[in-house]
Amino acid sequence: MPSATDFSALNELLSQLQQRSASLIQQKLPPVASSAAPRLTEAMHYAALAGGKRIRPILVYAGAMFCNAEITEADIPAVAIELVHTYSLIHDDLPAMDNDNLRRGKPTCHIAFDEATAILAGDTLHTLAFDLLASAGNYSAEQRVAMIQTLSQAAGVSGMAAGQMLDIQGEDLNANIAWLENMHYLKTGRLITAALELGAIAANANPEQRRALKVYGDNIGLAFQIRDDMLDIIGATEELGKTQGSDERHNKTTFPGLIGLGASESRAKQLCLEAQEALSDFGDNANTLQQLASYIIARTH
Ligand code: IPE
Ligand code: IPE
Ligand code: MG
Ligand code: MG
Ligand code: MG
Repeated sequence: MPSATDFSALNELLSQLQQRSASLIQQKLPPVASSAAPRLTEAMHYAALAGGKRIRPILVYAGAMFCNAEITEADIPAVAIELVHTYSLIHDDLPAMDNDNLRRGKPTCHIAFDEATAILAGDTLHTLAFDLLASAGNYSAEQRVAMIQTLSQAAGVSGMAAGQMLDIQGEDLNANIAWLENMHYLKTGRLITAALELGAIAANANPEQRRALKVYGDNIGLAFQIRDDMLDIIGATEELGKTQGSDERHNKTTFPGLIGLGASESRAKQLCLEAQEALSDFGDNANTLQQLASYIIARTH
């Protein structure tokens, strides 16, 4: 396996998959010119095409390919989950939540437009995602229902939105590590695991593959948010594309805040190893996912 910092082969694949998902998102967004509300559609384009690492679509693709699917089979869930993620970022940045001005290197949606437009752009990216799962691409009715269930449950009241609620309630809270792990798992881990599950559904994966992907996803999902918390302290605004120090300004409960940077890094490494271990029986088929786990805890943005 390559060392944790040698991502040259992975980087090429990441950039291909980033381009693929970005161009599909562009195709699937409603055109501004024929929109019933052009300003709203413009805001959707602004947020969804602003860049971003596209980790969730990449995980849908990597999950599907791990289960021997063709890349095209993963296109629609890859777009759908990135639209849900982008909606969550627009709302996360609003003044009522994290009140941030910079996202993906550009003014946040409510700064570039206004709060009402940003709220609605989040709403419409969210609903578009489920419209695509219901009607776009070439999937069986069973696959569509399974994908819609997986994504809605991961994003909703027992998933990302619940985690976001706890995150807000966690400001100024004297929380413990179990509370924090649960909050991180909900707000970030659920969508990361859902990305892999969507890939598995698109690929008609077998139960053994699905079980392994779930364990892998749960571990990298938490590791992803631990790294995000660390980068809020050690990252640079320019590279992050979002303002460094946001968590401290809002007295957020974070991993480094609770256990320090060193212990946070160790915990992320341990989770990465557990994720890799979950795929150890799958040989070369798991290479990309193994490297992605290392990338997630070493990334600098
Ligand atoms: C940021 O997600 C929000 C979290 C859940 C940590 P990403 O770090 O994936 O943000 P983008 O999509 O690359 O901008
Ligand atoms: C956000 O967590 C998680 C979401 C569900 C959007 P953060 O608030 O830490 O994400 P960033 O740091 O603003 O990207
Ligand atoms: Mg937040
Ligand atoms: Mg935030
Ligand atoms: Mg953060």
